Amino acid sequence: MSKRDPASNQLLDYGKKISDDDHESATTNSGNPIPKKDATLTVGKKGPTLLQDWVLIDELAHFSRERIPERVVHAKGAGAFGYFEVTHDITQFTAAKVFAHMGKKTPIAVRFSQVAGEMGYPDTVRDVRGFAVKFYTEDGIWDLVGNNTPIFFIRDSILFPSFIHVLKRNPVTHLRPDYDMFWDFISLRPETTHQTLVLFSDRGIPNSYRHMHGYGSNTFALVNEYGHFFYCKFHYKTNQGIVTLDSTKATQIAGQDPDYHTRDLYNAIATGNYPSWSFYIQIMTPEQAEKHPWDPFDVTKVWLHANYPLIPVGKLVLNRNPKNYFAEVEQMAFDPAHLIPGIEPSPDRMLQGRLFNYGDTHRYRLGANNLQLPVNSPFKLHNFSRDGFATLDSQGGAPNYHPNSFGGPDDDKRALALSPIWPVGGNAGRYDNGGEDWDNYGQARLLYHRVLKEEERERLVDNIVSWLKNAADFLQERAIGNFSKVDEDFGRRIKAGIQAKKKTKTQANL
Ligand code: HEM
Repeated sequence: MSKRDPASNQLLDYGKKISDDDHESATTNSGNPIPKKDATLTVGKKGPTLLQDWVLIDELAHFSRERIPERVVHAKGAGAFGYFEVTHDITQFTAAKVFAHMGKKTPIAVRFSQVAGEMGYPDTVRDVRGFAVKFYTEDGIWDLVGNNTPIFFIRDSILFPSFIHVLKRNPVTHLRPDYDMFWDFISLRPETTHQTLVLFSDRGIPNSYRHMHGYGSNTFALVNEYGHFFYCKFHYKTNQGIVTLDSTKATQIAGQDPDYHTRDLYNAIATGNYPSWSFYIQIMTPEQAEKHPWDPFDVTKVWLHANYPLIPVGKLVLNRNPKNYFAEVEQMAFDPAHLIPGIEPSPDRMLQGRLFNYGDTHRYRLGANNLQLPVNSPFKLHNFSRDGFATLDSQGGAPNYHPNSFGGPDDDKRALALSPIWPVGGNAGRYDNGGEDWDNYGQARLLYHRVLKEEERERLVDNIVSWLKNAADFLQERAIGNFSKVDEDFGRRIKAGIQAKKKTKTQANL
């Protein structure tokens, strides 16, 4: 037999642990031993099946309930477990216990994902990758639900469903990508330009989940023990180095091994090649935020490292594969609203929308008690919620109302001290934040000129052309108009690339 990887050997490894005398009796879901597994209860050898066959009914009834709704975005993914270790002191910025002292270790779960495709989609598509980290802290769950890019396409959560629709299937043809849908939205909302450049750059197709950075992307706030708060961005940099795939190789792998990233992660961990990321923060004081040239809560923009350097904090290490994918990864519920004392949201409009949406989708996808599943909350609960489908926790007979006279759970004084009171003012209204006054091209220009090398710019143009050439002519023109506002030559090169493709097509048809 040729050499096989640990993922291929999963069943062989299981089998090796079980001797012939060790086989457990098979049971129904109610734990009752099954006398004969592979035969239904029938009248005679060729007669009909009896309704009395509970073994059959039990198995079929469970089978028809095996699938649950997949995530509306980020449906395809892989997960693993490990720890976060503090290597640098940041207690001047936050009193969050997870950062309490150097050397402190906190268990974590991570789920990596693609954004747009369904659960069976190939791993090596051009797409943003999700990089969500669940910290199991003494103060409950902290979910840092990030991506492999420091920015996002839009800056108002009301646009999120539309943006996701244009990445997904056309509702009539059921085909994706639908290039007209995609380029229509992108070109009508020019705040997407910066992230579009990142998507079509080399970083748009990582070689594996291990070879990409992660970012909290949204702006958060930290609160220290004196109640002072600071705005903050989270970064986690791969220690494996950045490795990407070009479009041709990625397409080839998509056909050969659609689970390429999932397999890579499983095998790396199974062979003790534990991936790790160095964890950093950027800090902006409220005074700096007042003077910042861009809106510090605009997730389509980075905070320049020259002005807001990366401050080292710790490392993330993944050293355990899931024991069961469905139980531990599919049922994981990451939610940006799961925050701990010392870490707060900011007014970032995208984050504000996210604070509602994740919990809502979990209640739909996993049920009202999803936070009692072991992977989501291995903690003892002290609250006033009771009952609902699949309740697991009895809360030891504590009162289910507040206030009460019987010693039920009460306010947490430390959490109260760390809850900042902040001034809010202004006139309520629906302010569209996509206009030219929001500088939709400035940072895209910096990326194009200062970060990308000439050969990277060439690949960026080629990658954009390979998608944009499929859109209707008027959409091509509008998109090129926007790219020209990043840089005139950039726009010209895209236009020339599309014209060259059209010419080749015409010649091929002659
Ligand atoms: C208003 C903007 C956004 C909304 C409304 C939104 C909504 C959602 C929803 C509904 C899910 C599915 C969750 C589930 O079923 O468990 C999801 C997953 C996810 N989102 Fe967002 N999202 C937004 C923006 C972002 C941004 C900016 C990031 C990155 C910084 C991000 C990262 C992720 C990740 C990584 C997942 C997958 C989590 C997992 O692995 O289970 N999202 N999002």
